[in-house]
Amino acid sequence: MKKKIGIDQLEVGMYMEASVEGSVAKGASKQNVLLLGKGVLITSTNQIRRLKAAGLGDVTIDTTKGKDSDGGTDVPQVEIPQPKESAKESPPPKGREVAYKDELKAARKTKAAVTAALKGTMESAALGGTMDRQKLDVAGKLITQSVFRNVDAMVGLTRIKEHDPYTATHCVNVCVLVLAVAHADGIDKSTAEMLATATLLHDIGKTKIPLEILNKPGRFEPHELEEMRKHTIYGEEVLREMPGVTEEMMYIATQHHEMFNGSGYPNKLSGEEIHRFGQMTAVADVYDALTSSRVYKPALPPSFALTRIYHNRDTEFRKDIVDLFVKSLGLYPVGSLVILNTGEVGFVCEPNPENSRQPKVGVFISRYKRQRMVPTVIDLAVTGTEKREIVKVLDPAKYNVDVDRMLKMTTG
Ligand SMILES: [Fe+2]
Ligand SMILES: [Fe+2]
Repeated sequence: MKKKIGIDQLEVGMYMEASVEGSVAKGASKQNVLLLGKGVLITSTNQIRRLKAAGLGDVTIDTTKGKDSDGGTDVPQVEIPQPKESAKESPPPKGREVAYKDELKAARKTKAAVTAALKGTMESAALGGTMDRQKLDVAGKLITQSVFRNVDAMVGLTRIKEHDPYTATHCVNVCVLVLAVAHADGIDKSTAEMLATATLLHDIGKTKIPLEILNKPGRFEPHELEEMRKHTIYGEEVLREMPGVTEEMMYIATQHHEMFNGSGYPNKLSGEEIHRFGQMTAVADVYDALTSSRVYKPALPPSFALTRIYHNRDTEFRKDIVDLFVKSLGLYPVGSLVILNTGEVGFVCEPNPENSRQPKVGVFISRYKRQRMVPTVIDLAVTGTEKREIVKVLDPAKYNVDVDRMLKMTTG
């Protein structure tokens, strides 16, 4: 049952039903930010103190999931909905357990459930509450299972970016990209599950950064940048207090901004001083940042970002990890806008793990420069009367194309 109660009645053990917004100082003015997302269990008096400090009046609780306002009921474990196993309808390509399309639905559900769980966990940590390790482990397992069934589905979904205060979506994307690399590197499933939980938490230190810096839309002032960079150190501090966290998991939080050539932070480590998992996370983190838009920069198309990373092999990033990364994403990641030798223009809608030069392409501009409302999917691996191939990657910003909308039309 949902109940509206005064902030003074809020107690540890109650389950916050609705999201809570509050205002934080931003220069001379105030800015509304999300303090607590929907579905967070209050685990410490610190959280209540901070909500009170934000000047909140009423809050909504769910008494079926937490303590009632009169007190007295046990708090049940918050579950992440388990997506159903994907139905095996089409034959999978070599090296994949199920076909891309069959995994896509499960991957979408997994991503949504894991992102929501991580958002709640990070918001709870930001307010001084404890993090639900069990919930994070379930999240890590679900992503690992999807990646092991068909890595391309989850990787394809990393092009979906959403902005939230503690960058939960970014953390899920980085987790998927690191797992894709580790999977290509031959990692076993149980290590992959540990790696998944650890990479979901790679930016957990951001929960200790003041919101006015974290949510700043523009570029940082030098002192803000210095504080922002401390999220690597804060991350280790947060993880140290969490039960069952290994040294390896902490390395990912502290080392994911270290660069192979020693130009990173916080400790300017170089080469093999950086743990292999830290190096993998650095590549994935930069790729996700390059392909995300910011107020001061547009998103780079996926294949342009890959090229940028490829050029930094052996300088910022370790060569063999970059090679694995390119192999995992394919030469033309899902969503790449391409022109074919026939003059047709389309976007990559399904990768081909057996030959990344021949993905499936949703063609929406014909060779006669006619635009189609509904794209026609062409499999470049199937040669009909003429052989089609990709000749160039285009920038969607210059073509006024909504690739995400087009992708939805072709993949359902
Ligand atoms: Fe980071
Ligand atoms: Fe990050």
